[in-house]
Amino acid sequence: MTAEPFLDLHPATETMLDDVLNGFATTPRALPSKYFYDAAGSLLFDQICELNEYYPTKTERWILETYVDEISAALGDNIVLIEYGSGSSIKTRLLLEHLNGLAAYVPIDISKKHLMMAARNLEGEFPTLPIFPVCADYLQDIDLNLTGVLSKGDGHGASSVPTDDGAKRSKEPSHLIFFPGSTIGNFNPEQARDFLKRVHHLAGNNGHLLIGVDLVKDPKVLHDAYNDTQGVTAEFNRNILHHVNHQLGADINVDLFEHRAFWDESAERIEMQLVATDHQKVDINGSVFAFNAGDVIQTEYSHKYRIEGFRALAEDAGFTVDRVWTDPQNLFSVQLLSTI
Ligand code: AVI
Repeated sequence: MTAEPFLDLHPATETMLDDVLNGFATTPRALPSKYFYDAAGSLLFDQICELNEYYPTKTERWILETYVDEISAALGDNIVLIEYGSGSSIKTRLLLEHLNGLAAYVPIDISKKHLMMAARNLEGEFPTLPIFPVCADYLQDIDLNLTGVLSKGDGHGASSVPTDDGAKRSKEPSHLIFFPGSTIGNFNPEQARDFLKRVHHLAGNNGHLLIGVDLVKDPKVLHDAYNDTQGVTAEFNRNILHHVNHQLGADINVDLFEHRAFWDESAERIEMQLVATDHQKVDINGSVFAFNAGDVIQTEYSHKYRIEGFRALAEDAGFTVDRVWTDPQNLFSVQLLSTI
C-alpha cells in the first residue's frame, strides 16, 4: 500500500469559521456536532464509550459478538467491507476476523492522517487482505470501482466462477457498508434519509448496509447516558468551545458555559446544549457575539428510533430491512439492510 489513499475525494475541511459564524447567527445558537472531534474530543468520546451509564457502545459490541456468525451467514461470501470512520475499532476487527470470503476492506475517513494510520495498522494484522483507503466525508457521493484491482487476487480478491465454456470469469464482489455506533442518530431525519440514499448508491446491486441504531427506551436510562456522574460528557460537550478557540483563535471563556442534556419526548431525541452562566462577549475572527446568562448553544441531537420507524426511513431510501438483532433489554439494534 502506498502512503496515499486509494481514492482521495478531497473533503472540505476548512469551513469551521463559516459554520461558527452561521451557527452563532441563528436563534438559538448552534454548533455542528462534528466539531466535538478534535484530538481531545476524540479521547473524551473514547472515555464516554467506557462509562457505565453510556450503554450504546457496550451493547452494540455485545450484539455483534453474539451474532457475528449469523451476520456472516446472512451475507454470504465475496464481500467488500466498506466502513465510514477510522476503522481502528474492536468492532471492525470482529468483522474482519469473522466474515467469510472477505474480498477487500475499504475504510473511509475525512482525516487522511487517521485513515492511513488505521489502514497501516490493519495491513499489519491482516497481511493478505487488500485494503483500499478512501479519503472522503459522509456527505460526499462516492463511486467505488474495484473490479480491475480485485480481479488479480489469489485467495482474496474477487472470486472466480466457472462459465459455460469452462473458462473462469471473475464474480463481482458485493458491497457491505458498515456504519456502527448509531452515528445515524446525530443526523436529523431528513439528513439521515439523504445519507442512506448515498449509502444505497455506494452499496450498489446486491449490496448491504450493517448499521447500529439506538432505540427509544426508558427516559431515565437515556438521561443518565448523557449526564454521567463523572462529568465526562459535560467535558466532551464543553470541548467543542475549546476546539473553536484553538482552531479560530477565538476567546470564548469556556468556564462560563455548563452542560445540559435532556430527552425531548416528542422528537424522540436527546438534545445537548451549552448554557451560558454569565454575561460575556466573544470575538470570533473579528465578529463579536454577546452571551447573557441562560443563553443556549445547541450542540448535538441524538435521535433514537423505534424498529418500525427506522424501517420506514430505510425503505424511503430504497433499502429493505433483512434482519434486526437486539440485546435482551432492547436497548440497541444492529440492522442488516439490503439494496434489492
Ligand atoms: C457519536 N454519537 C453516536 C454519540 C451519541 O450518543 O449521539 C455522541 C455522544 N454524545 C454524547 N455522548 C456521546
